[in-house]
Amino acid sequence: MKIGLLGGTGIEAKGLALRFAAAGTPVIIGSRSEDRATLAAREYNSLLGNSRIQGASNQSMIDQSDMVILTVGADHILDALHSVRLSQDQVLVDVSVPMKVDGAGVDYVEPPLGSNAERIDESLGGLLPVVGAFKTIPAHILADLQIPLDCNVFICGDSDEAKNRVALLAEKIPSLRPLDAGPLRAARTLERMTVLAVHLNRRYKRRGARFLAVGI
Ligand SMILES: NC(=O)c1ccc[n+]([C@@H]2O[C@H](COP(=O)([O-])OP(=O)(O)OC[C@H]3O[C@@H](n4cnc5c(N)ncnc54)[C@H](OP(=O)(O)O)[C@@H]3O)[C@@H](O)[C@H]2O)c1
Repeated sequence: MKIGLLGGTGIEAKGLALRFAAAGTPVIIGSRSEDRATLAAREYNSLLGNSRIQGASNQSMIDQSDMVILTVGADHILDALHSVRLSQDQVLVDVSVPMKVDGAGVDYVEPPLGSNAERIDESLGGLLPVVGAFKTIPAHILADLQIPLDCNVFICGDSDEAKNRVALLAEKIPSLRPLDAGPLRAARTLERMTVLAVHLNRRYKRRGARFLAVGI
């Protein structure tokens, strides 16, 4: 199973690439610029001391990947999706959280249809299963392998098979427990939970607020 990151040169993608590759899964960083992707892959491999991460253009990454994680900044996702060709055999994982942070605080920016995951699913017209995951884990925590995650990854989607594929990969990451959070519309809750985490970080002057469900 190869994981590709669409828009893979940002901080969220760095964290996911490092965690998956450290757990033994090959990763391809995608970018609009093959050079940027190759440079990022080189940097992440040197942090890991192996060569499980490759760089490629976004389309070349997609052509080689079984699972594509969409790590483009939330405002540019539809543009990015329209610039590539995905295949019906793949799973698309959406990690996005549309929010605005300013002096007044942090707010969820509700997309049409109720969540970004559903908006993405609609824009793809059912071509491939869309799964929402990793939305509630802070990027800089993912990107620091010295920090144990000690949290859940909540996985939502309308295809049980696609959710299982994501969960099987996620459970290889130490101290991360995948939980099935329900259908894709559960992304409406998950995306808002991230806004809560950002509020908590600001209020308590922390950076790593994240979620661990008890009682399950
Ligand atoms: N930061 C967090 O703690 C956190 C937590 C949970 C979820 N998320 C989600 O993770 C995603 C990534 O966040 P980030 O802060 O890492 O993003 P980012 O740095 O703003 O962007 C990531 C990459 O997107 C690509 N990109 C930008 N505009 C594009 C366009 N018009 N078309 C195609 N690609 C474009 C760029 O790659 P190239 O220029 O190399 O193509 C860029 O490096 C977001 O959706 C965010 O909501 C973030």
